[in-house]
Amino acid sequence: MHLHKYEKIWLIFGISSLVLFLAILAYGAFWKGTHPQSHAEVIDPDNVEAHESFQPEHLGLNDMGDGQYVVNIVASAFNYDLGKDDDEKPVNTIRVPKGSTILFQVTSTDVVHGFNPAGTNVNMMVEPGYVSSYETVFNKPGTYTIVCNEYCGIGHHMMHATLEVYE
Ligand code: CUA
Repeated sequence: MHLHKYEKIWLIFGISSLVLFLAILAYGAFWKGTHPQSHAEVIDPDNVEAHESFQPEHLGLNDMGDGQYVVNIVASAFNYDLGKDDDEKPVNTIRVPKGSTILFQVTSTDVVHGFNPAGTNVNMMVEPGYVSSYETVFNKPGTYTIVCNEYCGIGHHMMHATLEVYE
């Protein structure tokens, strides 16, 4: 088989850049421990309460003042634990005023779950052993259904919560 000189040059260029990029990726992943930013924090999935944010009294909506909120959630098949209300009933809806900044912190005690307030740019994979967090501002009033978008078992489709942003 005859290869034209320029064809050879470009083949070598193409293959070597591929090898170079793979090497950079491997260096980052295996030697530098690079991983997705949202999974920077580790946690013991069998004892999430050891982490202050996931103690029962800190679950759900925490008003930090000045329009800043922290929402702590423990995901498990097939529920988002947002704490309990004054009547000891599980909370399923979070209400915040328009323009609020919310930091979501979510972890899982069993399998991989998803966390996606539908119609927003918040879309996280929730893995046992990690705290997935994302901060965003809610400027558009409305009712957002928070859905689990990672198949997590037989009750996957029933796993949801609600976020209400009011005027
Ligand atoms: Cu949890 Cu799907």
